[in-house]
Amino acid sequence: MTQDELKTLVGQAALQYVVPGEIVGVGTGSTVNKFIDALATIKDQIKGAVSSSVASTERLQALGIPVFDSNEVAELSVYIDGADEIDGQGHMVKGGGAALTREKIVAAQSKRFVCIADESKRVEVLGKFPLPVEIIPMATERLVRQFAAMGGTASVRLKDGQTLVTDNGQHILDVTGLQITDPLAFEAQVSQWPGVVTVGVFAFQKASVCLLGTGEGVKTLEF
Ligand code: 5RP
Repeated sequence: MTQDELKTLVGQAALQYVVPGEIVGVGTGSTVNKFIDALATIKDQIKGAVSSSVASTERLQALGIPVFDSNEVAELSVYIDGADEIDGQGHMVKGGGAALTREKIVAAQSKRFVCIADESKRVEVLGKFPLPVEIIPMATERLVRQFAAMGGTASVRLKDGQTLVTDNGQHILDVTGLQITDPLAFEAQVSQWPGVVTVGVFAFQKASVCLLGTGEGVKTLEF
């Protein structure tokens, strides 16, 4: 199966976690796009969605799924999102689509995080994928030096040759060369650095379930 087919498979499999009559939390990315397409087939059975990005909001609305502001909903039963990496405990690296801040916010208001990913995302130790960090632009050089001091190389993410600007009007640093052996400690530490809006390690908001697309079908990992 191709990677795209595996994404379709897990996107469809995630429907079983959607609670009828409720609002579902929706992430961002190419795997989530498959989930949104599948969600549209049962849209009459749900109240709507809370979205983690402008891109997902536009896709949901184009398919006739009502989108609620996260402030309108106290708690969500389930949040469904992809990941760039996931380890054996459900800790993830996210933010390849630059939506990490809103993703962490929606994940935090959800009882359960269902991660949908193809098997290429499963790692033993986080850090193979460049770690996304959303930052306030005036802190860029200081943060580049702080990551260098821990052995990482940080560069400002570009899009079409220009500095990428997130949905929140900020920038992204992508950090290579890290081995994140203690994701909880790492997230706690980097989140406190002045100028960091959100670090793309999801250890406090880790997955409770991962639907992993493999050549043998969907594997369900529970954490
Ligand atoms: C976006 C994300 C995505 O979930 C992550 O990048 C995975 O994306 P894809 O499903 O396209 O591989 O964190 O900010």
